[in-house]
Amino acid sequence: MAVPGVVNYWPSTRCAKAFWGQHDLPPYRDLLTDTLDWAAPAAGEHWLDLGCGGGRVAGGLWERSGGALAAVTGVDCAAANAAAFARLRATLTPPPGDRLRFRCHDFSTGLDPFPTAAFDHAVSGLSISYAEHYDAAAGRWTTAAYDRLLAEVRRVVRPGGRFVFSVNVPDPAWAAVAWRSVPTLVGADRPVQRLKGAWRMMRYGRWLSAEARRGRFHYLPAATVADKLRAAGWAGVEYRLSYARQAFVFRTTNPG
Ligand SMILES: C[S@@+](CC[C@H](N)C(=O)[O-])C[C@H]1O[C@@H](n2cnc3c(N)ncnc32)[C@H](O)[C@@H]1O
Repeated sequence: MAVPGVVNYWPSTRCAKAFWGQHDLPPYRDLLTDTLDWAAPAAGEHWLDLGCGGGRVAGGLWERSGGALAAVTGVDCAAANAAAFARLRATLTPPPGDRLRFRCHDFSTGLDPFPTAAFDHAVSGLSISYAEHYDAAAGRWTTAAYDRLLAEVRRVVRPGGRFVFSVNVPDPAWAAVAWRSVPTLVGADRPVQRLKGAWRMMRYGRWLSAEARRGRFHYLPAATVADKLRAAGWAGVEYRLSYARQAFVFRTTNPG
């Protein structure tokens, strides 16, 4: 939902590209490992990746399964990620072909393009916090789109299916993520380019934190996320810290 006078960088190509760069950073690699460990993808499954960006998590699921998944569908509001998925298809082993899919969609509106129980499981990396809803009558941002998204994910995941996702902690220290990445910049391939990438991400981080402070984006305490999951009908909620302690990874199950 576009709100007059409010900037949304997420659909822009420039912003999409800035976040492709984070995959090289050690905190992100830790987060990916933690997410894939809890996802534990298995042969024949169809996974949904919400806010998939360039497809690092989707590709990780594919490789973890040894290419045995039925399909992985990535959803993101930035159309530029379609090209990243095309590149990813060409680099993954074994090649996924059209079993690695990209769909450009704004999840703040729900998940209407997908039928009930369309997926075995869902995953999401640092994305669902950006489900946004502005209550024009009240003149304020609310968590309605976030809450609805949790319920919508449960609708599109089959009974018994898992939802494994990461979200940033309240008031994330972006500098802590950058700091933990410094050793990889020193002596790395193309260090200036990597440094520029980290700098761009930090700039978007400032925007994200400012919007979270005014209630548009949602960096919530773990207990609040857990309560929201239970309110949306999810069961067996667990979480752990990752990403240089700047994100929680959650795992929960759709009891049906
Ligand atoms: C921090 S990036 C993470 C990308 C990817 N999951 C990863 O791990 O590299 C957040 C992603 O959420 C996407 N996003 C933000 N708001 C969205 C929305 N309303 N609908 C769909 N995607 C959204 C952005 O375009 C971006 O790709």
